[in-house]
Amino acid sequence: MTSGITDPELAGRVALVTGAGRGIGQAVARALAERGARVVAADRSPEVKEQGAEERPAGGGRVTGMVLDVTDAAAVDAAFKEVERTVGPLDIVVNVAGILRPAPVVELTDTDWAETFAVNTNGVFHTSRAAARRMTARGKGSIVTVGSNAAGVPRTQMAAYAASKAAATMFTKCLGLEVARDGVRCNVVSPGSTHTDMQRQLWTDDHEQAEARVIGGDPASYRVGIPLGRIADPSDIAEAVAFLVSDRARHITMHDLYVDGGATLRA
Ligand SMILES: NC(=O)c1ccc[n+]([C@@H]2O[C@H](COP(=O)([O-])OP(=O)(O)OC[C@H]3O[C@@H](n4cnc5c(N)ncnc54)[C@H](O)[C@@H]3O)[C@@H](O)[C@H]2O)c1
Repeated sequence: MTSGITDPELAGRVALVTGAGRGIGQAVARALAERGARVVAADRSPEVKEQGAEERPAGGGRVTGMVLDVTDAAAVDAAFKEVERTVGPLDIVVNVAGILRPAPVVELTDTDWAETFAVNTNGVFHTSRAAARRMTARGKGSIVTVGSNAAGVPRTQMAAYAASKAAATMFTKCLGLEVARDGVRCNVVSPGSTHTDMQRQLWTDDHEQAEARVIGGDPASYRVGIPLGRIADPSDIAEAVAFLVSDRARHITMHDLYVDGGATLRA
């Protein structure tokens, strides 16, 4: 879905979005390009290259695909060098790459735990460190980490995921404190249930029933449901990211913006 935005408020900006091969990351890349940014859509899936090539968003920006695995620190550093050499100095970096391996703790394997943290936490560290080194030297820039509302409320079968997201969230806020004096802002966007492959992998039964349970709540898993009565579209999350990276949010840093239709009651 496109937003119909015609104000190129990000014209001239260079952005890198991880996990941009599909889902929320793809929507973020498109939203930034619609506002005029030159966006590098990075993903470990090679398909990101074709997806990027097809993007011709309104708004004057563009999306270029790049294969990148954020768990590999050296590859992340090399990707930053390459982007800055070929596209320009990065103004905006958005951490969206993430994985979910749902399982009760007693069944969670060492591999599931390690791989979850490798992407959701270490990946955010690698990418944000590479961004902060360059942005602080230039005295400007904006970093957004897409966390999860599961970082703020306990969820069954999500201990590794929620812990990895809580770590990434606090890491992003601490980084925001360190780099504020250099004019760099760091914020978090925490989505709730959003229509993507990650969400649908949780729906083992009929999708309509599963969706109704997510919206209406499920006492068996201690979920209260979604007060606004719908599951988010990836563009809902992208809108929040686009705001936070823009100059309209120039006085906002270390913030954690929940986009979950009220599902965690923000208690
Ligand atoms: N969908 C939801 O309900 C939901 C809710 C809360 C938070 N989130 C978070 O939003 C982000 C995007 O989720 P989504 O629903 O679009 O998921 P998705 O699974 O549809 O897409 C995730 C993308 O990240 C990429 N990726 C995974 N590991 C990577 C790595 N090591 N390096 C580079 N790219 C990698 C995948 O290839 C994929 O393209 C994730 O961080 C997720 O945890 C999603």
